[in-house]
Amino acid sequence: MAIPVPMPRKYRSATIRKARVLPLAMEFEDEEALAEARKAMDGDEGQGSQPREFQFACELSLVPADGSRGKAIARENDEIALFRLGGHVHAISNLCPHELSPLLAFGDVDLDACTVACPLHGWTFDIRTGQRIGGGGDVPVYDVCVEAEAVWVSTESRA
Ligand code: FES
Repeated sequence: MAIPVPMPRKYRSATIRKARVLPLAMEFEDEEALAEARKAMDGDEGQGSQPREFQFACELSLVPADGSRGKAIARENDEIALFRLGGHVHAISNLCPHELSPLLAFGDVDLDACTVACPLHGWTFDIRTGQRIGGGGDVPVYDVCVEAEAVWVSTESRA
């Protein structure tokens, strides 16, 4: 079970913020990169890039940098698992659809395949898409922004 991460004081004034959704989870290493990405999206109106709400999840340093494990984050209505793979942070539901066990953040990660296997019975999911490998029962996947060492996750999963 995930323990809620206390929000650092510097983020408390911006619990929820709107941002345009980029096609894939994306890191912004600094303000300049973020500004450039937003500028690039300005010409993309009407192409499914509606601004969406993001919620502070945790400091980037809390997500294991080597990708071998995830970080579970409790939110008001759901629980998410964050993984750092290939320089990007990805967010999927932490609940395994098999028995709704909140354990995917603690599963076995295959860094080459970008998958995580549930520690209970081994159902395996693509961390980038939430798709279950070898069967039905996908997990919701969320958009992620990393900005100034803070991880923000969309309040709603991708359709
Ligand atoms: S609870 Fe995850 S595979 Fe059974």
